[in-house]
Order: sequence, then structure tokens, then C-alpha cells
Amino acid sequence: MKISVIGSGFVGLSTGVGFAKKENDVILVDNDREKVNKINDGVCPFYEPELEDELVEQLYLGKIKATDDLQYAVLNSDISFICVPTPFGKKGIDLSYIEKVSKDLGMVLKDKNAYHIVVVKSTVVPETTERIVLPLLERFSGKSFGNYFGLCVNPEFLREGSALNDFLNPDRIVIGGIDEKSIDALKRLYKNFNSPIIVTDWRTAEMIKYVSNAFLATKISFANEIGNICKKLDIDTYEVMDAVGLDHRICREFLNAGIGFGGSCFPKDLSALIVKSESLRYEPKLLKEVLEINKKQPLRMVELLKERLGDLKDKTVAVLGLSFKPNTSDIRDAPSLKIVDSLLKRGCKVKAYDPKAMDDFKKMFPNITYCRNPRDALNGSDACLILTEWDEFKSLRDTDFGVMKNRLIIEGRRVLKGVKGCEGICW
Ligand code: UGA
Repeated sequence: MKISVIGSGFVGLSTGVGFAKKENDVILVDNDREKVNKINDGVCPFYEPELEDELVEQLYLGKIKATDDLQYAVLNSDISFICVPTPFGKKGIDLSYIEKVSKDLGMVLKDKNAYHIVVVKSTVVPETTERIVLPLLERFSGKSFGNYFGLCVNPEFLREGSALNDFLNPDRIVIGGIDEKSIDALKRLYKNFNSPIIVTDWRTAEMIKYVSNAFLATKISFANEIGNICKKLDIDTYEVMDAVGLDHRICREFLNAGIGFGGSCFPKDLSALIVKSESLRYEPKLLKEVLEINKKQPLRMVELLKERLGDLKDKTVAVLGLSFKPNTSDIRDAPSLKIVDSLLKRGCKVKAYDPKAMDDFKKMFPNITYCRNPRDALNGSDACLILTEWDEFKSLRDTDFGVMKNRLIIEGRRVLKGVKGCEGICW
């Protein structure tokens, strides 16, 4: 099929490359010319394993290209996926990019004679498609939904660090729609994916995305709360969760206690769902508490450090890992931001190392010391905090910590094995 993908960020590019690999013809659209050039040169504008290699392959095969010309992309495709950001604004989810793209698409559809399908892939709160996207498309195209264009919701469940694999092997594909023609077209598009397809209406599809993220975030805050209790009882919370997770109703995944969740999705999506609930005059107490636990969890790391080290003033702390999780350079809402900020406020000297995230971290914290490797960070330090479970840290051995001035190692993620003087935030 001929597909255009509007917005070539993490979701858009992963989606476009994935559809190209599935033998569709893909046109990526972005209003950032520099990004468009990079993509056409085979360069992924952000770090995402495997994506760049596959992009290069699909460019070579002529199955994908990027442009900043929306009209060209829509006139030369049958389906457009909206993949623009939906950040969390002052009053809840910020839908300005969605509104803009809906208007722009509407204006292009005015000039298109053939039937075209618009698919909302961006994460939007329930009712957005029916209340915002549809009316704008109709108004700006001057055409009515159903006869001239179709509209579906097709949420993404991609994890940073494994986006392409998640796209190609999804647990489920959700198609929200109300007209057979566009639903059938999407079913055809996804027919060679080996995954169940769930067909719902628009707002249910929108809700499925939020509930998935809210539930995963709830599992993490639950695991952290249990972890905090286990720590006081001198119980290894990982041993507890390994046994608890064997119950198939519970499942072991996302029960890893630590410094809490970060990234561009969980915090934003939970906040948006909370605001949406409140606008419906329902107070989502559980969801609020999930966020609250997550807000406090990173700072427990600093409290523990203080308990072990005493006054933190002028102490040198090695921080290993800055990204919100491994295999990404993303530091958005990363627990490391709060922890480093708190260390600096307490007068610590911070020596940080991360394999991918230091360039971005430097923009927020230009005045800490950035190291070339873990050893440089550890050298002469009074303590070490491990904040991301990069593979590189898993291979650190007891002797690697011998260069520290004082052997105090606190893990915010469970990484090390057999290292003396090491304890976890929750274990
Ligand atoms: C998340 C979801 O997992 C994806 O399904 C979804 O598509 C995506 O958000 C999105 O909405 O776009 P992502 O944010 O990339 O993906 O990362 P996750 O792997 O889910 O991890 C999120 C955070 O939770 C990380 O900071 C991670 O360290 C933390 N986490 C995860 C824990 O603290 N404990 C765990 O047991 C698991």
C-alpha cells in the first residue's frame, strides 16, 4: 500500500521504516528540513538500535523517502498516519500539533479526488478523534467523512530501544474505527503481521493506549512501594517478585523496583489521563498515587546516600547512567535529572558517565564532570550511584570499584553481581 507518515519523530520514523520493511511504499513527512535531509541520507536523527540500518536498507530499496511537502505526500499515498507529538501542557494534553495537522490534512484532502484514509497514531485522550480531528478534517476539506475520506485510530505500543522489533512483532494491533471501508483497509495493511487484531470504536482505541501505559506504570509504583517495605525488613524484593510473578495472573514483567519510571510516555500519559478524568468530575486517586510514588522514589536514593555517608557537602559522587532506561539517549523525565539536581543542591561534586545520554544531559547540567568511562567516574569518588541498567555496567566487577576513595555503591536499578559494598535502593 502507499502510506504517508506525518511527523518523523521516534514513533513516525519507526512506523514508516516498519511499514516499508513490510513492503509498503512510504513517504515520511516532517516540517523540519534538516531532519528530512538526514533521513534521506540514511541517518536516524536520534539513537534507536537497528532503526538506522533498516532505514538505510529501505532507502536503498526505494521503499521509503522523506519530504517536507505534505501535499505531495498525501496526493501520492492512500493512507496517512498522524504521528505528531502530544506533549503535556499546562492544562493537560497539548493537542496543538494534532489540530494543526488535521487542518493541513483537511486542506490537502480538499484537492484530492480519490478516497483517503487518515489514521491517528499519536497518543490522544479519549474523544479527541471525534471531537477535534474529525470536525477539522471535515471543515477544512469541505468533504464529509465516510464518502470521501476514512478515519481510524491505531495506537502505538513501541518501547524506546526496541521500537522496530515492537512494531514488527506487536502483542496486539488495535484498530479504532466506525466505517467498514477504512477498517478493512487497515486490516489488509496489517494482514501479514502475526498478531491479534482488535477492532473497536475511536474512543475505546484511544483509551486502550492510556490504560496500557497506566497499568504498566501502576505495576512499577506498586513494585517500588513493596520494595521500600522489603528494604526495611531486609527482604530481597526481587526474590519476592520472582515468586509473585510466576502467578500467570500477575506476570513478572514491570515489577522491577528501583528509582521509578521516566521517559516521554508514562509520566505524560498518566498526567493526561488524570486531567481527563477530573474534567469528567472523577478523582482518579490510584493514578495520582502512582505518580506521587514515582515522584518521590528517585529522591529516596539521595536520602539513602545521606544515611550512609553523612553530610554530603563536598563529597564526590560517581553517577553511572543518565538515560531513563538503557539503549536510548533519551533523558526526558529521567530519574537521573532529579537525583543529580538534588546532589548538586546538597553541595556534592558529580562525576557522570552514560554511553549515550551525556550530550543531552550536558545541556541541562553543563557544570558537572562528564567522564569517558565508568572507571574515570569511579576514580577517587566517595560513592557511586547506578541509575541505568546499561549492559556495560553489568560487566563491572568487584575490582573495578577498587579505584574509589570510599567503597559505597547504591544501585537504583538492579545491575551488579558479586560487588562488595553494594546495596540497592529497595534491596
Ligand atoms: C512505554 C511502553 O512500554 C510502550 O508500550 C509504549 O508504547 C510507550 O511507553 C509509549 O507510550 O510510547 P517506554 O517509555 O519506551 O515505553 O519505556 P518502558 O520500557 O516501558 O520503560 C518506562 C520506564 O519504566 C523506564 O524508566 C524503566 O526503567 C521503568 N521501569 C520499567 C521500571 O522502573 N521497572 C520495571 O519493571 C520496568
